[in-house]
Amino acid sequence: MAAPAHDMAALDIAQPTAEPSLAPAGAQALGTAVPQPPAAAAGSGTASVELHPPLPRFAQIEPVGRCNLACRMCTVNERGDTVAELPLERFVELLDQMPGLEELHLQGLGEPMLHPQFFEMVELAAARGIRVSANTNLTLLTPKRAARCVDSGLSALSVSLDGATAATYESIRRKASFAKVVRNLGRLMQARQEAGSTLEVRGVMVLMRHNAPELPALLRLLHAHGVAELLVQRLSSDLQQPELPARYIPIRSYVNEHEIPETELPALEALFAESRTLASALGIRLHLPRLRARTTRSSNGPRCDWPWEQLYITAAGQMLPCCMAASADRATFGDVFTDPQGLQGRWHGEQAVQLRAALVADQPPSLCRSCALYRGMF
Ligand SMILES: C[S@@+](CC[C@H](N)C(=O)[O-])C[C@H]1O[C@@H](n2cnc3c(N)ncnc32)[C@H](O)[C@@H]1O
Ligand code: SF4
Repeated sequence: MAAPAHDMAALDIAQPTAEPSLAPAGAQALGTAVPQPPAAAAGSGTASVELHPPLPRFAQIEPVGRCNLACRMCTVNERGDTVAELPLERFVELLDQMPGLEELHLQGLGEPMLHPQFFEMVELAAARGIRVSANTNLTLLTPKRAARCVDSGLSALSVSLDGATAATYESIRRKASFAKVVRNLGRLMQARQEAGSTLEVRGVMVLMRHNAPELPALLRLLHAHGVAELLVQRLSSDLQQPELPARYIPIRSYVNEHEIPETELPALEALFAESRTLASALGIRLHLPRLRARTTRSSNGPRCDWPWEQLYITAAGQMLPCCMAASADRATFGDVFTDPQGLQGRWHGEQAVQLRAALVADQPPSLCRSCALYRGMF
């Protein structure tokens, strides 16, 4: 993630007026504490942060909120908010409200290729000079869609591959066929090569206890298909918020069982070293996550800059604090379609301002405290 563009040394913190609550109406509070701004900000003004930043240059928009798969660690099939398909006109309205947008990640919680107008959305945004990227499970890639990936103006596509064998991959990515996804990866890379396309394709792996040993094999598989980058990420959340809706508890149990325990970190360090050597020999850019949580802040800025630097909208029009919140039943800044001020109204709404203040004070809601990004190990 990019560092906040605002100047940490010279901005102004407003004293938050109420306990931060990102919870949707009717939901329980997120176990939040009243944020206290850092002493320097409250008193001398030496460290402060803008609570009303301008709309960011990066946005993530969810085209469709449902999926054809049922990955074990993913909350998509349990989400309790409205599951929608974003109408094309609404998508254009959102773009119109962000004239300064430079980068769009066109995917949320769900499979973007399930949206019948996904590639039209890509084209519309790319025609405005916006760099467009997405993640996909790649299970729906027909030859026609492979061609659209390279001719629609898409800049980058991340392909989720949580294993290098059918047994491991299919035990995580339920309803998917490893053989078909590997075939589709070949199809995508062939279309890219034939078109002389610059589409950036990278693999993405969610690292867990049982798939970690397949990291070197995954590097080899990607290399064999001409993919030059792999992003390895940790589980996004331990889902430990006390107010977590009960329907998520089986996923929380899975996540707890599959997160890498402290005792296995030395073995993982060795695996990371081996994988770095292999990636370098194969010419693959490998991004590995931190193994241990960061305990201190590197500066007195917020540990997470999502609510300053990035904006997230679900297909139903909810502005979420970040992609890690995943769905509006876990946290929301409100509905941008019903707010008379649209995106600006929610970006500067009470919930957004309170979360920024809470992050600055390093006393965020439980949603953040259970997030791997906030803990510095995503
Ligand atoms: C939610 S998916 C949506 C896009 C598409 N369906 C896919 O699987 O790539 C986006 C990314 O989040 C990852 N993901 C899902 N659940 C996760 C979790 N609990 N922790 C970390 N990453 C997760 C997926 O593996 C995928 O790379
Ligand atoms: S990770 Fe992606 S493919 Fe898997 S269930 Fe979630 S949205 Fe679907």
